[in-house]
Amino acid sequence: MTHKPLVLSGMQPTNTLHLGNYLGALKNWVRMQEEMPCLFCVVDMHALTQDSGYALPEALTRATREVAAAYIAAGVDPAHTPIFNQSRVPEHGELAWIFNCVARLGWLDRMTQFKEKSGKHKERASVGLYTYPVLMAADILVYKATHVPVGEDQKQHLELARDIAAKFNNDFGAPDFFPQPEPVITGTATRVMSLRDGAKKMSKTDESDASRINLTDDADAIAGKIKRAKSDSFPLPASKEDLKDRPEAENLFNIYAALAEQDRDSVIAQFAGQQFSGFKTALADLTVAKLGPITAEMRRLLADPAEIDRILKNGADKARALAAPIMDEVKKRVGFIV
Ligand code: TYM
Repeated sequence: MTHKPLVLSGMQPTNTLHLGNYLGALKNWVRMQEEMPCLFCVVDMHALTQDSGYALPEALTRATREVAAAYIAAGVDPAHTPIFNQSRVPEHGELAWIFNCVARLGWLDRMTQFKEKSGKHKERASVGLYTYPVLMAADILVYKATHVPVGEDQKQHLELARDIAAKFNNDFGAPDFFPQPEPVITGTATRVMSLRDGAKKMSKTDESDASRINLTDDADAIAGKIKRAKSDSFPLPASKEDLKDRPEAENLFNIYAALAEQDRDSVIAQFAGQQFSGFKTALADLTVAKLGPITAEMRRLLADPAEIDRILKNGADKARALAAPIMDEVKKRVGFIV
């Protein structure tokens, strides 16, 4: 059986979204809306797994609205594509429990993101942080979604989702019940790096705000961060080969190419041999031109939180209508009386 194409993706409402979230994922979502049906959730349950999101109820509520506003401001059309917060669709949590019983400890032990996030003191991390990728698998499979547009860092989690789907299908005698969801990792900025350290991913939780461009930064903040972005002391490279071992230059080129919708080789050719300072000015202007309208629209939307809440409720109603019959079938397959 082939499954009907359906896209699902989500972002965690922990702090503000940044350029990496936009270029690695959100920008692709906007395009994919034209290609197949999509569902986009704000994963508020996942946000509880972060120390920075836990026990700060107002901050979580605010961040959830802000992420929803970012989706809409970037071009996701809520009239066409449901946008909802994960906790509003209880089927995500229900399926996650069943998947907790399908997934093996050994599989979760391999997850690099847990190792990074839990740091040196694994025993102090929440159980939720450990089973985070299991909930993510449930987010996707509770709709039998087939395509998952994400940045490169989520690839391993998608592999786990595929393993869970296969094991469920096998264990419960339903060879094609769940699809094998495909990661969709496209563009030149699938892994945007920190502006302070070309070896580290741009992240919402990096202590240094200068390491990332937030979708809420104004033009001055963006220009300042790009101007201060770590670079090296050589002129800009003239070829792809010369970018080797120059992670900061590579990162800035990738960002430029993704924002300008150019391929990277043409960006390299455009700035070959020039100094970083001129390139940084061009990159700052481009970033402000591309993000400015999104930031302004986010601000406009956030001035009316009731309208965002209405959009989230509406999206959740539509999402539940899809998830509930699938969840009913799952329950019957595992032997629950429904
Ligand atoms: P999150 O909230 O960390 O990130 C949201 C999306 O942004 C991408 N991303 C990046 N892309 C390029 N460069 C970066 N520096 C960068 N940082 C983040 C992420 O790959 C992601 O696509 N586990 C997910 C949320 C999630 C989810 C899901 C995603 C929960 N359930 C179901 C897809 C399907 C996460 O933490 O994303």
